[in-house]
Amino acid sequence: MSRAEAKEIHRERPSGYIAVMRAGSLSRRGARLVGDSPMPEYILEHFGRAGSEGYVPLCIAENKLMGDLLLPAMARLGTPPEHVLGYDAMVGNAGFRERLAGFMATRVLGRRVDPSQIAVLAGAGTVLETVFYVLCDPGDAVLVPTPSYAGFWADLETRDELTVVTADGASANGFRLDVERLDAALAASEHPVKALLFTNPDNPMGRVATPGEIERVLEWSSRRGLHVVFDEIYALSVFGDTAFTSVAALRPDLGEFLHIVWAFSKDFGASGLRCGVLVSENRALLDAVGALAYWGATSGHTQWMLSELIADDAWVDAYCATLEERLRDTYTQVSEALSKAGIPHLPAEGGIFVVCDLRGFLGDATEVAEHALWKRILDETQVNLTPGAACRIAEPGFMRLCYAAEPLPVVLEGIQRLELVRPR
Ligand SMILES: Cc1ncc(COP(=O)(O)O)c(C=O)c1O
Repeated sequence: MSRAEAKEIHRERPSGYIAVMRAGSLSRRGARLVGDSPMPEYILEHFGRAGSEGYVPLCIAENKLMGDLLLPAMARLGTPPEHVLGYDAMVGNAGFRERLAGFMATRVLGRRVDPSQIAVLAGAGTVLETVFYVLCDPGDAVLVPTPSYAGFWADLETRDELTVVTADGASANGFRLDVERLDAALAASEHPVKALLFTNPDNPMGRVATPGEIERVLEWSSRRGLHVVFDEIYALSVFGDTAFTSVAALRPDLGEFLHIVWAFSKDFGASGLRCGVLVSENRALLDAVGALAYWGATSGHTQWMLSELIADDAWVDAYCATLEERLRDTYTQVSEALSKAGIPHLPAEGGIFVVCDLRGFLGDATEVAEHALWKRILDETQVNLTPGAACRIAEPGFMRLCYAAEPLPVVLEGIQRLELVRPR
């Protein structure tokens, strides 16, 4: 038994009784999960501090700006039909997928897809985990441009046993992706690269890719025979000058190698409902995803509720217009507050976050110094930011600030508090 397996795990039960459990009684994979959580430290800290007096969480990409529209609309739906209580197609109720196909066509994809090319699972994370399980074998690699959403590592490495290989952006060109970086990452990978995972609009920078940029990614991956998964989870959360273009709008068909992920989590501020959407024309992929869907299905009640909401075009129109207006307004005020506080940041045009350049707050330009700064900000000001290392930003000193999960005055207070840790 290895040291990790033999490690004793202490868990406090509600009664105060400390249970001592031996991880050795679990399987190797079970013990690995208990001893070494796939959750990044900033999230563990968040759950430890959430709800405590003075704590300002600016580290979680949640949109809580829309509850006043969503909750009454949900309440108006009344009693659900009885069928939501029963088993149904695990990749989503047929009627829901029919409506989703229409909704996705007009709101996200920019062109029609067949309902049979849609699968619904419990959130974008579940879709990604399942899709990559099906596309790759343990030991394979997936290429991810950075800065990136931190959760991809947990999604792809924990159960799928893949390696995420990064194509690192550089601050010198505003972290713009160029295909030379993809080439370099591919050449340097010690594992066979099977796919590219591209996020648009991106997390953490809130940048929206132009059709030209999307074309370059598509051409690059198709020339190398790679699958490419477009994570378009922030498709409707766009408020800047660049309109969102789905990759689907640029191709008459997706073909075997192109797949799209969206979810209600961000654009509909409903991360707790767990409803993610896969769009693919690859029948084998859809069948294999269908074989796993039982373990990651979305509840029938949630599907019914969302189906009713998206069926009301006038409501969705008003919802989307308000979403854009509120995000733009909130981002503008956050950006102004950051500028006033002398904190440089990358201009965002979508998403619910902004990348702050705190290099001026660092002693040394090292990951250790960045971690120390993140912890000092947390301990001394109770503000939790997402450290750049979690987003795999290759240069230390950048941190993501999420501005839509707390009321604006709380976010602005958090920004002011950053002043307290500025080096004098
Ligand atoms: C780019 C991206 N993809 C996927 C997810 C996961 O979303 P979900 O909550 O639907 O699993 C997130 C959540 O932050 C995200 O930012």
